[in-house]
Amino acid sequence: MPEEIDVSDCTRCAELCDARSRIVNGVGPADAELCFVGEAPGEREDETGDPFVGRSGDVLDDALRDLGLARRDVRITNCVRCRPPDNRDPTAEELANCRPHLERELESVDPEVVVALGKVPAEHLLGRSVPVTAEAGSVHDARINGTPRRVLVCVHPAATLYDPSQRETFAAALEAAVDLVDGGGD
Ligand code: URA
Repeated sequence: MPEEIDVSDCTRCAELCDARSRIVNGVGPADAELCFVGEAPGEREDETGDPFVGRSGDVLDDALRDLGLARRDVRITNCVRCRPPDNRDPTAEELANCRPHLERELESVDPEVVVALGKVPAEHLLGRSVPVTAEAGSVHDARINGTPRRVLVCVHPAATLYDPSQRETFAAALEAAVDLVDGGGD
């Protein structure tokens, strides 16, 4: 059984350490086939210690339910495990500091498909600029810490709250991710 990834004592980013209430580790089965990677915790996640439990989490939960899945069936984690002040984007340095935690989690869980939720995780995992709306639902072979991974690009669930026209794009990308796992991607 893969080890649980708990980095609750990390102090790599001074500003995030000062601002956070707690570190938000990944949740879900230690051998999940689908792993969702978001950007960084928001206010509610910082309060509770669980990823995607605010409004974005509701969007993700609803979309999973529509596909016959529950949050407990999938792994949910973030590129950065501490809430950036005022929900600003994580800096390149913070992303780099937190990357070993994400890499260790992916090594341990070894999911069949990694779903990048939004621009920051898509670019962090693929190492290039990613127009997420245009590329949503597309699957890419990536090498993460030397291991080949299939990364599916998806819009961030929050995008569907600001722009309802993104709902279909979000749902279709999630469906593609589930189909990839069910069908083995062949
Ligand atoms: N947005 C993210 O990217 N991650 C969370 O955990 C919550 C909101």
